[in-house]
Amino acid sequence: MKITTRFLFFLLLACCQHAFSQARYTAWDSLALTPPMGWNSWNFFEARVSEQVIKDMADAMAANGMKAAGYQYLVIDDHWVGGRDKHNQLYPDPERFPHGMKYLADYVHGKGLKLGIYSDAAPLTCGGVTGSYNFEEEDARTFAGWGIDFLKYDYCNAPEDVTTAFARYARMGDALKKCGRPIVYSICEWGPRKPWLWARAAGGHLWRTTWDSRDVWESHNTNLTGMMEIFRQQENLAPYAGPGGWNDPDLLMVGLYGKGSSSSVDGRFKGCTTTEYRTHFALWCMLAAPLMVNMDLRTIDAETLRLLTNKQLIAINQDALGKQATTVLKRDSLQVLLKPLQGHAFAVCVFNTAASNAAFDIQLKKDLDLWQPFRIQEVWSGKNVSALKGTLAAHDCAVYILEEGQK
Ligand code: GAL
Repeated sequence: MKITTRFLFFLLLACCQHAFSQARYTAWDSLALTPPMGWNSWNFFEARVSEQVIKDMADAMAANGMKAAGYQYLVIDDHWVGGRDKHNQLYPDPERFPHGMKYLADYVHGKGLKLGIYSDAAPLTCGGVTGSYNFEEEDARTFAGWGIDFLKYDYCNAPEDVTTAFARYARMGDALKKCGRPIVYSICEWGPRKPWLWARAAGGHLWRTTWDSRDVWESHNTNLTGMMEIFRQQENLAPYAGPGGWNDPDLLMVGLYGKGSSSSVDGRFKGCTTTEYRTHFALWCMLAAPLMVNMDLRTIDAETLRLLTNKQLIAINQDALGKQATTVLKRDSLQVLLKPLQGHAFAVCVFNTAASNAAFDIQLKKDLDLWQPFRIQEVWSGKNVSALKGTLAAHDCAVYILEEGQK
């Protein structure tokens, strides 16, 4: 083939490939082509969530660099509902939300951010306020009318079987699809019914895979899941995550330091170390998990802010391929995760599960089966390095971005 013909042929092929890759995603998928990022009121504020709290968080997020880093949603979790009026329309608690939800959504939108809300697939939520069961269409329309952009839909007080769970989630999914406003749908049945198998079919963009996270590295208790228990439960779920639908290993404990009433289980857990929070955040980025911060943003310190806005980690999390990392190596106390990134690049996280120092020296070919030459950037320092080698403190991790090319 002549060069020009060959070029035109490849151009045509590239256009077709592009068109097909775009067509793989529906408009509904496109609401969450990358994992949603934002903040949620649950662990820190619980029943104290209010209009003022959300405004304060919006102000903080818009001003402190988090919005610029990609955080978007402010999600009002449980306890916002006042009740249903005589037209069956939900209304917020009038004392904590004195100007109503439309006013609050306008405020949040005015800051260039988005507002999320919470309900439950039963007559009552986990916190005992009115849920959406049997009012799915009415409530979806109400949320759309207020300008809501995200719905977390819980499963307290609902029947245990998976058939009913699917039916109830699909009813709200269908209602959201026709409510006239794009609303990201977050399914929260905590994992027992394996939602990764059916949540997308019910319309979900993300689905919780575990019980609530607690603010502790490891709880050694299956009923109160710490970060390591949650992390281990994600190991076989990578095939289910991708653009439009994400495994959700729950909210970020980063920066709570035992201050959340729910995550500390009323003071029983004292929180994690700064090192443990940075590993937690790095792991959630590697897992392509939704990044939902929980701490009080009014009092965020510089180090936590630097972690939560780390450009490389967020790029790893938000990478367009949408792959969830898998464990490729376990050696002594070391665990190595690999996340393919677009453009034949990879993110590698080496973390130390032990409570004492551990040296590591990971060979690309022998240990990771990566044969081509790579430029390697170490994420914490931002510096280029020639090998994946060093010493990790207890529970610390090192993260690398590998791009094809000469060292
Ligand atoms: C739980 C849920 C938490 C929080 C809480 C509110 O079921 O897992 O994330 O939403 O309900 O009551």
